[in-house]
Amino acid sequence: MTFLILANFKSHKLASEAKKWLEIVSAHPFLSEVEVSVAPSHIHLELFSDKLAHRQPDVQTRRSTDSPDISLAAQDVSPFPVGSYTGAVNASQLVDLDIKYCLVGHSERRRYFHETPSDVAAKVRQLLDVGITPIICLSTEDITPQFAALDDSLRARCLFCYEPPGDIGGTESAAPEDIKKVTDRIHSYAPTHPVMYGGSVNEQNVAALRLLGLGGVLVATACLDPKQFIATIEAYIHGKG
Ligand code: PGA
Repeated sequence: MTFLILANFKSHKLASEAKKWLEIVSAHPFLSEVEVSVAPSHIHLELFSDKLAHRQPDVQTRRSTDSPDISLAAQDVSPFPVGSYTGAVNASQLVDLDIKYCLVGHSERRRYFHETPSDVAAKVRQLLDVGITPIICLSTEDITPQFAALDDSLRARCLFCYEPPGDIGGTESAAPEDIKKVTDRIHSYAPTHPVMYGGSVNEQNVAALRLLGLGGVLVATACLDPKQFIATIEAYIHGKG
């Protein structure tokens, strides 16, 4: 898997700000060493989907001439299929917008929206049915109950992201040795899967995380300013920090 750097806007940005962010980030020539993905609010997914679809690929390289390949991710999905579920955005609606990844079970969803491991498993089923890759977020406490709620056939098609709630929203990531310990534990359930990490990742610490053999990182606070997000990607690529 190419190292995935996913920008999670959470509940930030008006449409005009989200549009500006995409203009700045997509104008930057990243190397193909990383995959960049962005998860804006649901109401901005269509705007992003349109803008990303209209980039012109270079005929020879098949890559966009003016921007890197940026994939689109959603922050959440309904645990229910199409139907009478007022306010819910279902997986078919996401796939219609070319969404590649969807976060599920983020600690903020578990904490503020009271999502349980079985709610998360229901969302995973909905996503896999339409071909979207779920990125299941796990704190240390979530690992055992969450894997118990996912059978092997579901696990095999998901990505996992270790997100210690106490390390979210700051400037220092969890200690690399702690990240390694927990990602090894996740690997004991999903041995062949690269595991991601999220929690205060920024341009200062991403290079140190590179040494851990992670599959990618989730970046929220440090993604909101497009220049800081670009600096974080560059720090990863060039191994600086
Ligand atoms: P943070 O958030 O980068 O602000 O720590 C990460 C996340 O919760 O996805």
